[in-house]
Parts: sequence; structure tokens; C-alpha cells
Amino acid sequence: MTVNTQSTIGAIATEHPLATRVFARHGIDFCCGGGRPLEQACAARNLELDQVLKEIESEIDSTPTPEVRWDQKSLPLLIHHILEHFHEPLKEELPRLESMARKVHQVHGDKDPALAEILEVLLALEQDLQQHMTKEEQVLFPMILNEQGRLAGGPVSVMEAEHEVAGEMLRRLRSLTNDYRAPAGACNTWQALWAGLEALETDLHEHIHLENNILHKRALAS
Ligand SMILES: [Fe+2]
Ligand SMILES: [Fe+2]
Repeated sequence: MTVNTQSTIGAIATEHPLATRVFARHGIDFCCGGGRPLEQACAARNLELDQVLKEIESEIDSTPTPEVRWDQKSLPLLIHHILEHFHEPLKEELPRLESMARKVHQVHGDKDPALAEILEVLLALEQDLQQHMTKEEQVLFPMILNEQGRLAGGPVSVMEAEHEVAGEMLRRLRSLTNDYRAPAGACNTWQALWAGLEALETDLHEHIHLENNILHKRALAS
């Protein structure tokens, strides 16, 4: 395995999908921030480039199943994957998280004032994502499936701007939840909410990476 350290993070994540686990571990933004070279991203986070490269190698060596290269699959297959693995589960997960966040806020809001803002950010994220997915499903994805992807510059730039906003909300949630470390004595719902929000972040990063770094780029170049 050779990783070109001058490559952008998005390109590395595309060619070596398991690298995203290492990026996530170190808080390296590989979806909206995928346009930066790895060397630069490591320097910005005070990480040793060699160490990060070693971790990527060992992640690949220790995973028996081959990596799925979405840049080498057809665009209809990639869209099907995005819908099945990200959009459909997200439509079920967002209301579940909302109901847990309402409950935790109602019961513990007086003990932790951050819970009010966490609920507020989550509700805004939920609304944004629902509208965003509808636009993808009704406008952008049909254009790509109808081989009109090269004409989709307008919708793509709107979607990428919305991804930035969602990414910012995820950063805010991570900071408000103390990196998803539940306070001592947190009830089961509180702990489940933190776990669910962290999983939402992981999935959304992967989802946005597939769209920004692979789907959009390939559609515009088609
Ligand atoms: Fe999407
Ligand atoms: Fe999207």
C-alpha cells in the first residue's frame, strides 16, 4: 500500500476507504475538509504524518475483507448504496434521537443547561437533513441517473454548502457533549443518546464523503 502524502484527504479516503477510521479517530475532517493535503491536515492537528500513515497501513493490514472502492463502481450502484445505507436509516434514526433528546432534556435539563442547546441543534440538523435528502432524491440523484450529472453544478454546490452546515452542527454537538462522554451517573437514555449522536456523526461523515469526494466529482466529470 502506498499513500501519497501530497494527496488530498478526500482522495486518500477514496482510494483507501479504511483510512477513514484513522481520520475519524484523530478528528481529521475527511468529508467537507477533504480537499486539503494529508500533510497539512496532520500539521494543523499536531499529528505526526508518519504515525498517521502507519495507522492507515495497519488498519488495512488487519482488516481481512477487501475495501470497497466506490470510485470504481457505477454511479447508479453508488446512489443505491447511499440511499440504502445512509438515507433510509437516517430517516428512522433522526426521530429516534429527537425523542431521546426531548426526554433527557425534560428530565435532566435543570442539571445540565447544555441539554437545551443540544436539543435545539439536533432539531435544526434533523430538519435540514430531511429537506437536504429530499432535494438529493428528487433533483440531484435523478439528474445523475439520467446521465445529466455534468450539468448538475448548481445542485452540487447547494448540496456541498448544506454539507458544510451539517458538519458545523456535528462539531457543535461534539463540543456540547464533551466529546460524547456522558456525565457520571447519567441514566440509560442519556447514555444511549450520546452513543446514538456519535454514531450519527460517524455515518454522516462517511455519507458526505461518498457524496462530496466521489459522487459529485464523478458526476460533474461524466
Ligand atoms: Fe445524501
Ligand atoms: Fe448530502
